[in-house]
Amino acid sequence: MKILAIETSCDETSVSILECFGGLKKPEFNILSNIVLSQIDIHKEFGGVVPNLAKREHQKNLVPILTQALRESGMLKIYKSEILNTKQISNSKLPVQSWSALGGKITNKFKKLQKILEREPELLDQLTDFLNKYEIPKIDLIAVTNGPGLEPALWVGVNFARALSQAWQIPLFGVNHLEGHIFSVLLKQNRKNFQFPALALIVSGGHTEIVLTKELLDYKIIGETLDDAAGEAFDKAARILGLGYPGGPAISREAEKNNLTTSACPAVAKRSGDVVRLPRPMINTKDFNFSFSGLKTAVLYLVQDLKKNGKWVGDLIPQIAYEFQEAVLDVLILKSLKATEKYNIKSFILCGGVSANKELRYRLSDRLCKKYRENFNFLMPELEFSGDNAAMIASAAYPNYLRLKAKGKSLKISPIIKANGNLNF
Ligand code: KG4
Ligand code: ZN
Repeated sequence: MKILAIETSCDETSVSILECFGGLKKPEFNILSNIVLSQIDIHKEFGGVVPNLAKREHQKNLVPILTQALRESGMLKIYKSEILNTKQISNSKLPVQSWSALGGKITNKFKKLQKILEREPELLDQLTDFLNKYEIPKIDLIAVTNGPGLEPALWVGVNFARALSQAWQIPLFGVNHLEGHIFSVLLKQNRKNFQFPALALIVSGGHTEIVLTKELLDYKIIGETLDDAAGEAFDKAARILGLGYPGGPAISREAEKNNLTTSACPAVAKRSGDVVRLPRPMINTKDFNFSFSGLKTAVLYLVQDLKKNGKWVGDLIPQIAYEFQEAVLDVLILKSLKATEKYNIKSFILCGGVSANKELRYRLSDRLCKKYRENFNFLMPELEFSGDNAAMIASAAYPNYLRLKAKGKSLKISPIIKANGNLNF
C-alpha cells in the first residue's frame, strides 16, 4: 500500500510517499519520495524557532512540496481536458474548480474545503489550483503529525491533510511525532528489525525520553528530562557561545576542533582542563530522568566569569563546546546503559534530531554492542532521517494502520483531528 505523510510539527515542512509491505512482525518500506524543506535560514536570526513564522512558512510551502513529492514518486498527473468534458465521470474525480463553478454556484464539496482551511486562506487558494490541475493519485492512506510540537505549526499540517483527505476521498489519521522518530530507524532496506523488549532513547529539540517498548506499538516512558531537552540544551549553549542556530551541529563542529587542538598542543589541553569544567547533571541518580537546564546555566556562568576576569578568548569556544558535549553524552550514555541492563533489552533505538551527533552514535553503539554482542540490535536512523521528516511519519502510520485493520476498525475520510503540542505516548 502507498502512504502519503505530512510533517509540520516544527521548522521543517515535509511530505513523503512510502510504499509499505509486510505484516506487523516485519514492516518494510520503499521510499518513493521524502521532500524536506528546512526553515532554518528564516529562524536563524531569532536564535530559535518562531512559531508564527513557522506556521506562515508551512502554509506557503505545503502545496509546492506536495507537488514535488508526487512528481518524484511518478504520481503527478495533469488532468486531460477531455476528462473534464466527460459527463459520465464520477463526481469525486472532478477537480475542485469545476465543483465550485458548476451552475455558477459554489458547491458543497468546495464549501467543505473552505471550512477546513478557513484559517489558512492562502493554502486554500494554492490547494484549489493544485486540485484543478492534477489527478487524484493512487494513494491508500494519508498520515499527518498531530503532536507533539508547536501547535500553530501542527495545525497547518493537520488542516491541510484533512482538506486533502476530503478532496481526494482518501482516509486519514494522525501520527505521534515521537513514534515517527522511533520508526525512522527502519527506513532503510535490509535493516534489522525490532526485537523486544526494546528501549528507545528519543533525543530531540523538544524531548529527551527513554521509552520501554515490550511489544510493537506499546510504549512506557521510564525516564525523561525534568526541564530542557538535550537538543534544546545544545541550542541554548550554542547561543551563549555565539554559535547560532541550530546549536547541535554547531557545538559538535566546534568540539571536533578541540579534539585536534588537544592532541596537537598539550599546553592548550592543560589550560582547557583548568578552565573548562562542567557538571554531569543527575548522572548518579537511580532513576532514568535527566536535567539539562543547569548545564546550560553552567556554560553561561563560565563565560561570564571568564569575561569578568579578562580571560575570555575565542580560542576557548572549542574547548567549552567539547566539554559541554562530553557532559551531555556522559549522562545520556550512562543512563542508557543502566536502563538496558535493568530491563533485559534486546534492541536499543537511538533516535531524534540529536541522534545525528556523531560522537553519540559511535559511543553508544560501541558500548552497547561490545557489552551485549549477538542477540542484540542497535538501531539508529540514517543521518537523512534523524531530523524531522515525513517519511518517518509514514513509517509509523503503517503498523498503526495494520493494527486498526486487524481489529476490524475502518478509517475515516477527513476525520476531526486535533493538533496537540503536548501529545505523548
Ligand atoms: O528531532 P528534531 O529534528 O526536531 C524536534 O523534534 O525537536 O531535533 C532537533 C534538535 C535541535 O535541537 C538540534 O540542535 C539537534 O536536534 N541536533 C543535534 C545535532 N544535529 C541536530 N544535536 C547534537 N548534535 C548534532 N549533530
Ligand atoms: Zn523531531
